[in-house]
Amino acid sequence: MKAVAAALAVSISFLAASVVLAQSRSSGKSAVSATPKYDPVIYAELQKAPEKARNRTNPLQNDPDAVAAGAILFAQHCAECHSNSAEGSPKAPSLLVREVQTATPGALFWLLTNGVVRKKMPVWSKLPEPQRWQLVRYIKSLGGPAPAGDSPVPKP
Ligand code: HEC
Repeated sequence: MKAVAAALAVSISFLAASVVLAQSRSSGKSAVSATPKYDPVIYAELQKAPEKARNRTNPLQNDPDAVAAGAILFAQHCAECHSNSAEGSPKAPSLLVREVQTATPGALFWLLTNGVVRKKMPVWSKLPEPQRWQLVRYIKSLGGPAPAGDSPVPKP
């Protein structure tokens, strides 16, 4: 009986040790890979929206349900790359940065419509226009970092 108890104690402490080891290993790894590289060049694409596209207003700007609908679409189509919180993953950059949050709704709509295919941001023209505008409302609702005072982001 004593031997069994001793064997048990040994295996339990071994288990505990390996759990601790596994945790420290995985947390070390995620700290490196979960932080997407911040590179302003990535967001340069939004600046390329033609003026006419950039100045388009969101037809759903005052639709009270658009943000919630956009959140569902985001979880379905975008989270796999941009992460649930939109803060980015190794696959795609954060959407909470100033470059995205201060982009006009029209510029974001244009980007979703055209994608950045050569850099693995898909084209979303297959989503009906109202859904793309809902996504724009959702992205804008996230707010991102504190605006510098000249932010065109309308406060709800
Ligand atoms: C297959 C992975 C993937 C999916 C799915 C995806 N994206 Fe992206 N997205 C990217 C990548 C990669 C970039 C960076 C492109 C670049 O370098 O310009 C990006 C960039 C962006 C940008 C920043 C614009 C810029 O200048 O690059 C926005 C806004 C964006 N995505 C929105 C979305 C939305 C909204 C969805 C869902 C409808 C979505 N993305 C789905 C990979 C993805």
